[in-house]
Formats: sequence, C-alpha cells, structure tokens
Amino acid sequence: MKHRLLQQGRMLPSLEARLAETYDLHRLIDEPDPKAFLAAHGGEFVGLVTTAANGASAELLAALPALRVLSSFGVGLDKLDLAGAAKRGIAVGYTPDVLNDCVADIAIALMLDIARRTAEADRFVRQGKWSTPGLASFPLGRKVSGAKLGIVGLGRIGRTIAKRGEGFEMAIRYHSRRPVADATWPHEPSLLELARWADFLVVITAGGAATRHLINAEVLDALGPDGFIVNVARGSVIDEAALVRALVERRIAGAGLDVFENEPKVPAELLALDNVVLLPHIASGTRETRQAMADRVFDNLQAFFAGQAMLSPAPLP
Ligand code: NAP
Ligand code: 8YV
Repeated sequence: MKHRLLQQGRMLPSLEARLAETYDLHRLIDEPDPKAFLAAHGGEFVGLVTTAANGASAELLAALPALRVLSSFGVGLDKLDLAGAAKRGIAVGYTPDVLNDCVADIAIALMLDIARRTAEADRFVRQGKWSTPGLASFPLGRKVSGAKLGIVGLGRIGRTIAKRGEGFEMAIRYHSRRPVADATWPHEPSLLELARWADFLVVITAGGAATRHLINAEVLDALGPDGFIVNVARGSVIDEAALVRALVERRIAGAGLDVFENEPKVPAELLALDNVVLLPHIASGTRETRQAMADRVFDNLQAFFAGQAMLSPAPLP
C-alpha cells in the first residue's frame, strides 16, 4: 500500500508527477475548504510535502496527528514549526547546498546591477533617452572590482558569495554570531563595524525571530551614503520601513532586493526609485537548481520510508 502524502502549495510539475506515481498524494490546494478537509481526513496522512515559502505551521501539524515525515522544498526553515515537529518526533527534510551557486550568483548579479546601474541603463535606452539629443548622458556607476564586500551570515551560501567576491578581487569580511573555524576571511564581531567598513553589504543569514530586523536604521546609517545593500536572505532580516526611509533620503546609495517583508507586496516607494533593483524572490530560480531541489525533496522522503537517514535532515531544536 502506498504511503499517504499531503502536498501543501504548488510544486514543480516534475516533482508532483514523481510524488503522485510513488505515493498516494493529495493536493491541499484542490480542496475548496482546506480546514474542513483536514478536520475530516488529516489523520490519514503520514507525510507532508511543502515549500520554504508555504512552510508548515503549528496549526497544520496539529491537523495531521499521524504525521511522521515532512519534506520541504527550500533551505529556509523560518516558516516550519521545527519545535512542534521535534516534540512529536516528526522527521524534517530540506534542500541545503544544491542551491548555493544560484543564490550566490543572484547576490553578485544584484551587486553589479545596483553599482553599475544596468537595469536603470536598460530603461534609459528603452525610453529613447540615449538617442534624444540634448539629454544628459547616463550617470556614472560605482566600481565593483576591488571594492569592500561585507557578508552578513557566512553559512553555505555566504561562503559561496565570498568565493565569487574573490574573483572580483574584493576585500572580504563577514559577520556572524560565531567565527567560522575554517574561513580565511576576517570575522567582524560587530555588525555595525562591518557596515561602516563595507562598500557592499550582502545579507544572507537565516530568517526567523533571531534575525528579525538585524539590519536596522543604525546599521544602514553605518553603511552610509556611498554604501549599497543586497538582500538574498529573508525580507524579515531588514527593517523594511527603515530601509525605504534610508533609500528615499539617500542615506545609503542603493539596494538590490530579492526578498521582502510581506511578499509579494513591495513598498510603493521602492517602485519609484532608480537606485534599487527589485526581484520577485528568484535567487534559486533556475531549471537546474529547482530540479535539484525537487530531487532532494523526493530523495529525502524515499530515504525516510526506506528506514534510512534522510540525505539532508533539518537541524531540529
Ligand atoms: P546557513 O548555512 O545555515 O547559514 C546561515 C548563516 O546565518 C550562518 O552563517 C549563521 O551563523 C548566520 N546567522 C544566523 N543567525 C544570525 C544572527 N542572529 N546574526 C548573524 N548571523 C546569523 O544557511 P544558508 O544555506 O547559507 O542559507 C541562508 C538563508 O538564505 C536561508 O535560511 C534562507 O532563508 C535564505 N535563502 C534565500 C533564498 C532566496 O531565494 N532568496 C534561497 C535560499 C536561501 P551563526 O549561526 O554563527 O550566527
Ligand atoms: C525557494 C528559498 O525558492 O530555499 C529557500 O529558502 O527561499 C528559495 O530557494 C522558495 O522559498 C521555495 O519555496
């Protein structure tokens, strides 16, 4: 008999097809009244498949009393009730490492874009401004090669960003709560000092309560009017209202943002600014990486049901 799995949210079609072939899969999004469905059938499911974006709340876990395993598409754990899962002995799998390259690539893309103003320059050409006689020429950008790169969070992705920064001959320092034992880049115990030093501050910590508004007005002021910020972590890590004020008042030079506090809502003030680049949370969004993430979601489940250790079990509190 196939194990009964609940799927929360949409998944890559290839993953859905594989799951449906192997398991007795049910998609919660097909239910007109998900609450009523869970009240009637929640006890049937032994597995849950979700995404980092959709998470697994305490309420959802409570509605699945027979749950034994949860497999999440993504590395972020901020929306998963890990404490609740740990208490009930529910195994949790996620997809670290396979997305390091693509997330680091987007961090570098954002850094280059805001400094060299490529999105703004593209708008300049499309709007016919380049070919309009008498218009001022396009403003100069800021050199990236050789500049100072401060990384907030030197985990799996942070290290990958640092290696790319080395390719641009950047000076690199990082901040995290603990120095990373085998990292050769200098650890800066004070986030404010890192912000003061950096030309580019790239945020790639974990999300969740512990990092909420880690980047506040004081940190932004330490970065200063010539400093740029890039966020590929979670919107919650930056105090978005403070960021908007700092950008509008030109107290920092610019921002490249893949993530926002209330996705998919983006503050209207940001849409009107030229010194920001705004992406719809696409850092891991390549065919190759999303497929690798999908494979890991599937392989974690397969290992669990075969009685083996998952390939990437999430750290439980
Ligand atoms: P990771 O290996 O766990 O690294 C997390 C880093 O954050 C560690 O260096 C950790 O160091 C640091 N950190 C945690 N709390 C901190 C705090 N309060 N102050 C300073 N540093 C802190 O995770 P990862 O795989 O690199 O992923 C990082 C995050 O990126 C994920 O959690 C996810 O939210 C986000 N992400 C976003 C996208 C996207 O599409 N934009 C894609 C993938 C991942 P210490 O514990 O020593 O402080
Ligand atoms: C995912 C992410 O695309 O892995 C994460 O934590 O933020 C992204 O890679 C997305 O959250 C999937 O739900």
